[in-house]
Amino acid sequence: MKETFSTLLRYMLISGVLVHAFEPISTTIVAGVGAASLGMKLYNYLFETCDENWIGFNATGLQEDLQKKLFGQHVASQVVFKAVTGFMNNENPKKPLVLSLHGWTGTGKNFVSQLIAKNIYHKGMESGFVHLFTATAHFPHTRDLETYKTQLQQWIKGNVTNCPRSMFIFDEMDKMQPGLIDSIKPYLDFYERLDGVSYRQAIFIFLSNAGGQNIVQVALDFWTAGRQREEIQLKDLETAVSLSVFNNQESGFWHTSLIDKNLVDFFVPFLPLEFKHVVQCGMAEMAAKGLELNATVVDRMARDLNYFPKDERVFSVKGCKVISSRLDFYTD
Ligand SMILES: *[C@@H]1O[C@H](CO)[C@@H](O)[C@H](O)[C@H]1NC(C)=O
Ligand SMILES: *[C@@H]1O[C@H](CO)[C@@H](O)[C@H](O)[C@H]1NC(C)=O
Ligand SMILES: *[C@@H]1O[C@H](CO)[C@@H](O)[C@H](O)[C@H]1NC(C)=O
Repeated sequence: MKETFSTLLRYMLISGVLVHAFEPISTTIVAGVGAASLGMKLYNYLFETCDENWIGFNATGLQEDLQKKLFGQHVASQVVFKAVTGFMNNENPKKPLVLSLHGWTGTGKNFVSQLIAKNIYHKGMESGFVHLFTATAHFPHTRDLETYKTQLQQWIKGNVTNCPRSMFIFDEMDKMQPGLIDSIKPYLDFYERLDGVSYRQAIFIFLSNAGGQNIVQVALDFWTAGRQREEIQLKDLETAVSLSVFNNQESGFWHTSLIDKNLVDFFVPFLPLEFKHVVQCGMAEMAAKGLELNATVVDRMARDLNYFPKDERVFSVKGCKVISSRLDFYTD
């Protein structure tokens, strides 16, 4: 509907300009200038452009979203806020921002990338300047590696040429072929320009489960020692993530090559979620679905999920991942 409307308006603008073309010169100039600036305003309003009309960082918005909508991730929340704010406030960054988000499934890695996008681009994930690649969907076949490499490099270059403030999210990073990751390395580096294009305003976000097991172990150790989850600090998890990388060649290989060159600016660890966080996710999901909040229903749904270790039932196996569909089942 909005598309039809904008096409119509676009047509009217063009025909307006055409009509003016047949008027005497003097009025054409006056009206033409007016129409052109009005037209430009309208155009900027209707069509996403790579400028402050459509792109603008909202630090308060990001902070609020991280505090109110992301559950159980005090470390990730802090790191992400600091990293993104620092980068967006820097007028002259020396390299693009590269974040690597790690953790168990369903802990909020995808969600955090959405929150970042939402607070930079007015259209959020719908923005034409935000690009999401999922390894198994976009680059599934080993035999097509060379094609993928060329394609991905062209996409990154083309999109950053169109809009320096572009964002690229790579999901399932641990399932990406190492060769493909190598092909994007130059764009993450400290070059002022690469083939005439500067990548320093761009944002790259990598999502993976790599290190997830080690992060879980840290959380479990804290729990076993009777310590508060909130006492866990970034430094407790940093070794967990980097050790896993060097020990686990399978899922860690890509990551070592990025670490070696210091291309990743921030490693962001996501903790496994507990029962109470699943309940928070459930309530938020109910609100999002426009349902009447019902704690009894959410509680029952949360209790029926799987937790580990088996006896203590501390952490949710799937985090908050399946909650949306589960709720439908419990509210029927
Ligand atoms: C920034 O986000 C806050 C909180 O979501 C919102 O109230 C405010 O209107 C936003 N500011 C801009 C300029 O979009
Ligand atoms: C930008 O990236 C998308 C993939 O998200 C691709 O389809 C498109 O061709 C790219 N644009 C340019 C100009 O390269
Ligand atoms: C919550 O849902 C349960 C089961 O559907 C229902 O019995 C109960 O009355 C509801 N509670 C509230 C406060 O709406």
